[in-house]
Amino acid sequence: MKILNLGAGGFIGTHLTERLLNEGHSVIGVDTHTDKIQESLDHERLTFVNRDIRQCDFDLEDMMRDVDLVIDLIAYANPGMYVKMPLEVFRLNFDENMRIVEACVKKRKRLVQFSSCEVYGKTPVASLEGRLPDPENPEYATFSEDMTDLIMGPVCKHRWIYACAKQLLERVLHAYGLKKELNYTIIRPFNFFGPKIDYLPSETDGIPRVFSYFMEALLTGTQMKLVNGGTHRRCYTYIDDAVECIYRIVENPGNVCDQQIFNIGSPKNEVTIRQLAETMREIYAEKFKKPNVPLPEIVKVTGEEFYGKGYEDSDRRIPDISKARTLLGWEPKFGLRELLERTIAYYAKG
Ligand SMILES: NC(=O)c1ccc[n+]([C@@H]2O[C@H](COP(=O)([O-])OP(=O)(O)OC[C@H]3O[C@@H](n4cnc5c(N)ncnc54)[C@H](O)[C@@H]3O)[C@@H](O)[C@H]2O)c1
Repeated sequence: MKILNLGAGGFIGTHLTERLLNEGHSVIGVDTHTDKIQESLDHERLTFVNRDIRQCDFDLEDMMRDVDLVIDLIAYANPGMYVKMPLEVFRLNFDENMRIVEACVKKRKRLVQFSSCEVYGKTPVASLEGRLPDPENPEYATFSEDMTDLIMGPVCKHRWIYACAKQLLERVLHAYGLKKELNYTIIRPFNFFGPKIDYLPSETDGIPRVFSYFMEALLTGTQMKLVNGGTHRRCYTYIDDAVECIYRIVENPGNVCDQQIFNIGSPKNEVTIRQLAETMREIYAEKFKKPNVPLPEIVKVTGEEFYGKGYEDSDRRIPDISKARTLLGWEPKFGLRELLERTIAYYAKG
């Protein structure tokens, strides 16, 4: 196939592009950044377009003229940004993504659209503030693509603009699907982890995700900061497992992915953010610690102190992956310790 991969220079985009090239496909990759994808840039079947899709002379329709598939990964995808620049997040993650959707409709291209597990929002346990009798029941936090209600916080918690933009985009795709004007598949990633996930905070003007803050604390011996005590829980998913599932969606055997939404995540890898910090510190101490740098202290900070006003977060989210299991025969393989060891090794060895 010939595939247009928008956001090919990002974390998922880089790993996915490598896999697509290894499987024999031709890729047109578009991104404003090239550093993560350096190793693939010389590949004979990769055409890399180092451009910002917002530039007025960037012709999306022309770019997708003779491709078989469009993959859209472009977004601002870090919580710090949702709080600091909510309008920019909306404009990129909804308006610009809509331009991609509409070009696909016009050119009749199949679209694989990256959404987010954030569209599920909070669990009923959080929104009912402890009024459920058995709040630990994992069923309240197990999110399934076509059944679960999507629960967002109030507008003054502007962090939810990311989730709302993604949700609205999904609803537009669904509407185009109803009119049979677009063949799409939506992917909801659950906290992918792996080499190149982000830059370390000291290497970027941007705002990275939690792993990078913890990793930099380990490398420099400074504090690991737990936002609101680190009680929230996540299911971390190794990038190789994720790319395996995404690749099966790209292949779309028997068209089973048409007009479908897929959760991609590792339900067995659930931890609190505190446990994540502690396990990272343990692995680092065992395998990578430099003798002259002390192990960091783990401290608590409020969400407002760390991210600013308007921050709120999903309390817990576990993917129901029965659809990917049944339709694609996919099963994640990497456990939490192994995925952390591999990711820490990448950053510790520099
Ligand atoms: N990584 C995860 O666990 C996760 C979780 C939920 C959702 N997602 C979604 O998956 C997608 C990819 O995520 P990622 O983790 O690879 O993020 P990422 O930030 O690493 O990748 C996004 C890429 O898009 C590029 N980009 C942004 N604006 C652009 C523009 N105007 N023109 C050209 N390129 C532009 C960025 O340079 C970046 O390389 C996003 O849509 C994100 O919302 C990812």
